[in-house]
Amino acid sequence: MDIILFGPPGAGKGTQGALLADHFGLQRLSTGDLLRDAVRQATPLGLEARRFMDVGELVPDQVILGLVREYLGGEGGAGVIFDGFPRTDAQDRALDWAHAEIGRRIDAVLVLDVSDESIVQRMAGRRSCPACGAVYNVHFEPPGIAGRCDRCGSELVSRVDDEEATVRRRLAVYQAQTAPVIDYYRLAGTRLEHVPGDQPVEQVQKALIERLSTASAPTQ
Ligand code: AP5
Repeated sequence: MDIILFGPPGAGKGTQGALLADHFGLQRLSTGDLLRDAVRQATPLGLEARRFMDVGELVPDQVILGLVREYLGGEGGAGVIFDGFPRTDAQDRALDWAHAEIGRRIDAVLVLDVSDESIVQRMAGRRSCPACGAVYNVHFEPPGIAGRCDRCGSELVSRVDDEEATVRRRLAVYQAQTAPVIDYYRLAGTRLEHVPGDQPVEQVQKALIERLSTASAPTQ
């Protein structure tokens, strides 16, 4: 089962992607996480990507597609949850070609719908663990000990691109370049499921699992 978890920045793709991957035994591919790893390791790709990420712009398609091809070559056994990919028309087409080569396809696109104002508020409260990738929120999902990761004890950090002006830029980029990807899958007849993301994490999780467990749910 290969799934795309889709939605604006801060919709909860990372939070829900990790929970769904555990629940269904799937791999999770987050292009944002792969890029942040490359930035932390200061690889040439990371240094190139950082210029775009810090100001809320998309990283060029050829960089992203190189990363994803490398990943699909080695992973994907039981299925993959794509988190934050594809984000452009070039990326959705490239994923189709890569899938055709290995005899797989996208089984469902799950869209998390969240208002812009909720997103700005969430991003201001997000804290991430630089060591294990766990994500918290000082308002909604706080860690047990303030500033410390529950899983590995590392000090939590804020993301550079969570500053309000950059979040608003990311939202604008999402509307202009990424939201149209939904139409690509609608026209292809892929199963599309919209889930309200403005609810507590557990309720969003329950709704996503229900949608994925319903084999013959109608396409929206
Ligand atoms: P990426 O890391 O993918 O960022 P994003 O899509 O903007 O999404 P986020 O990671 O910010 O949010 P999320 O939806 O995962 O939400 P989360 O679960 O963390 O990409 C970063 C950058 O990399 C991009 O701007 C771009 O430059 C580049 N990039 C990445 N992929 C690319 C691609 N394919 N092509 C080109 N460039 C690419 O939740 C957010 C916060 O809300 C957390 O604090 C969380 O605890 C909290 N929260 C989650 N759910 C709830 C809830 N239900 N209620 C209350 N709070 C909640």
